[in-house]
Amino acid sequence: MDFEIRPCASMEDVRQAITPIGYYFGRSMPDESQAERLTRVLPAERVYAAWEGGRAVGGLGAFPFHLTIPGGRVSAAGVTIAGVLPTHRRRGVLRAMMRALLDACYRQGEPVAYLWATEDTIYGRFGFGLASFTAEIDLPRERSAFHVPFANAGRVRLASPAVAEELVSPVYERVAAVTPGMFARSSAWWQARTLADPSWRRGTGGDLQCAVFESEGRPAAYALYRMNSIFERGLQTGSVTVIEAIGQSPEATRSIWRYLLDIDWMARVKASLLPLDHRPLFLLAEPRRLGFSLRDGVWVRLLDVKAALSARSYQAQGPVIIEVIDEFCPWNAGCWRVGADGVDRTDKAPGLRCDVSALGSVYLGGFGWTQLARALRVQEVFSGAAAHADALFQASSAPWCPEIF
Ligand SMILES: CC(C)(COP(=O)(O)OP(=O)(O)OC[C@H]1O[C@@H](n2cnc3c(N)ncnc32)[C@H](O)[C@@H]1OP(=O)(O)O)[C@@H](O)C(=O)NCCC(=O)NCCS
Repeated sequence: MDFEIRPCASMEDVRQAITPIGYYFGRSMPDESQAERLTRVLPAERVYAAWEGGRAVGGLGAFPFHLTIPGGRVSAAGVTIAGVLPTHRRRGVLRAMMRALLDACYRQGEPVAYLWATEDTIYGRFGFGLASFTAEIDLPRERSAFHVPFANAGRVRLASPAVAEELVSPVYERVAAVTPGMFARSSAWWQARTLADPSWRRGTGGDLQCAVFESEGRPAAYALYRMNSIFERGLQTGSVTVIEAIGQSPEATRSIWRYLLDIDWMARVKASLLPLDHRPLFLLAEPRRLGFSLRDGVWVRLLDVKAALSARSYQAQGPVIIEVIDEFCPWNAGCWRVGADGVDRTDKAPGLRCDVSALGSVYLGGFGWTQLARALRVQEVFSGAAAHADALFQASSAPWCPEIF
């Protein structure tokens, strides 16, 4: 190994560490403002880099998140900025950084790590399992009538993103606190990430816009979006790109989506990173017109099986015994008795046997044991164990993470 792995100690180190991932987005050395904005939400010591001759050839970091899981919240490492310069690929740089980062997160008492994978081939080997689906839509606006028309019991007003935090963050928090897959946003996160509008983020779209739906005088839903106004031979062909539309009640969610679907000049409404139980799918008269399409969502890795499983809630059922295989974090390997009354090691015979990545897949409630057993990702040692574990692990809503980090 001709490189050294160590955490960053300064803003300049962080600037170096994000250079490899920036390279793949077509950028040269990031400027100081990018590193400064990142360190507002990602402390330098949580960013690892592979150093060679005084410069970073790879980078990997972990946001300190409070992740919502069925029944509560847990400290979680939000793995990010994974990148290795093309000059140094496939020499084990990512593997070495992952080792250092996950070991440090485990030592600091973060039982879970999660991430968005740009390539779905990379993270299974490190024990991450696909934990949610996410959906995209691309809807012609003239086909956006609702199944049942409704009278809006509130009003929408525009807010400048610069002052929107106070209005929208309580709505987000109410939803995030009960939606597995979402994490709590600090004020720094709102300012440096969600509501920041640097030009490189805009693509072909306009400025970041914020609309707030108020019911009884108080914010109940909001949308962040961009307008892409295009005219071809005088005809409108542009679109609204919805970045995030969140409501604290079904009625408020319906109202903010109706607002988005009714903006004049826009031919289409596009959105991605939507939950599997996306409301317009059931609200629209012609749901097929949404072009609702699925892709993989977040990937979860249990760093500390006992702590992670203990933090979750379970439906009142008898326990299940799971034998876990974990090559990358061998301290998790062995048989675990998991029940509503606690999680502990056991020397009893397992009903299920699986790689730790399968535990990541079921952790947020997005996938079931029977589903994974049918796909041969879980071995059912005793017949009926998977169905029993499904009842135990059942969650009330599909996991959703509305943003890529
Ligand atoms: C993906 C990336 C970080 C891998 O870095 P790397 O240093 O080449 O990876 P390593 O040499 O440590 O490889 C680790 C393992 O992952 C595998 N691997 C790495 N990248 C892979 C890819 N893109 N597809 C499939 N397998 C991959 C390697 O074969 C190796 O497998 P093994 O340990 O089982 O033998 C690097 O290629 C990169 O920066 N790619 C572009 C940016 C990107 O995709 N980042 C990820 C964002 S989520």
